[in-house]
Amino acid sequence: MSDFKCEEVMPFESSASGKTQQIEQMFDDIAPHYDIMNRLMSLGQDKSWRQKAIKRLKQTNPNTILDVATGTADFALSAYDAIQPARIVGVDISEEMIRVGEKKVKAAKKSDFIDLMRADSMDLPFDSQSFDAATVAFGVRNFESLEKGLTEICRVVRDGGSLAILELSVPTNPFYRFGYRIFTKIFIPIMAKILKTNSTAYSYLPESIDAFPQGEVMKELLLKVGFKSVEIRKYTMQTCTFYFATK
Ligand SMILES: C[S@@+](CC[C@H](N)C(=O)[O-])C[C@H]1O[C@@H](n2cnc3c(N)ncnc32)[C@H](O)[C@@H]1O
Repeated sequence: MSDFKCEEVMPFESSASGKTQQIEQMFDDIAPHYDIMNRLMSLGQDKSWRQKAIKRLKQTNPNTILDVATGTADFALSAYDAIQPARIVGVDISEEMIRVGEKKVKAAKKSDFIDLMRADSMDLPFDSQSFDAATVAFGVRNFESLEKGLTEICRVVRDGGSLAILELSVPTNPFYRFGYRIFTKIFIPIMAKILKTNSTAYSYLPESIDAFPQGEVMKELLLKVGFKSVEIRKYTMQTCTFYFATK
């Protein structure tokens, strides 16, 4: 029995594999198209959402950052440019996403400052309190156990350090919600078809957003796993929520 509905939403319903394995397979499949789909499906907003999160993170001046669910390293690269920390470590379960990310890090000549590696947020291979900050952009929704993943991230952040989370959300305002439903039911499947990408991944997307605990429920969970304060901001007609937690 899972604690949150999102933990039961899987990309491949007929598969006997667990959520982590299914998520890994799904991102391995879509890795070549991930960046373009991300840009199209967020109508180019994903970049500005990351920039807003990074702007808040920069106020705490972190010298070491762990980017969990780093994917193709967009957050890690933008955070490095804006904050110039000594080191960013990006972890992800999908080798193919990391492969795309590594190419981008190399092309940006940032390999001396950004390390990408395969690791699961459920069991991070780092000592406790080893990072000034952690970040997760559009990743927590995919965790097999949300509480376990957030507890593990809290463990590796030092006391006084921070966690910045960006996640897609269902608007609470009925007008925004109506627009959001049209967008996810019509626009996203069409884009997935045009790009001939894995359509399962793009039906999993709205289902997992619907099932994810949002706003105050997420805040309570962040406090439960060990953070002391949590700020919440909503962007672009409430379709993206930013959580900034301090340990
Ligand atoms: C939607 S992508 C986000 C990538 C990137 N953070 C961005 O801003 O574009 C979600 C990523 O989370 C990764 N992921 C999902 N569950 C994970 C877990 N338990 N541990 C580490 N990475 C995970 C997936 O492999 C995928 O690359």
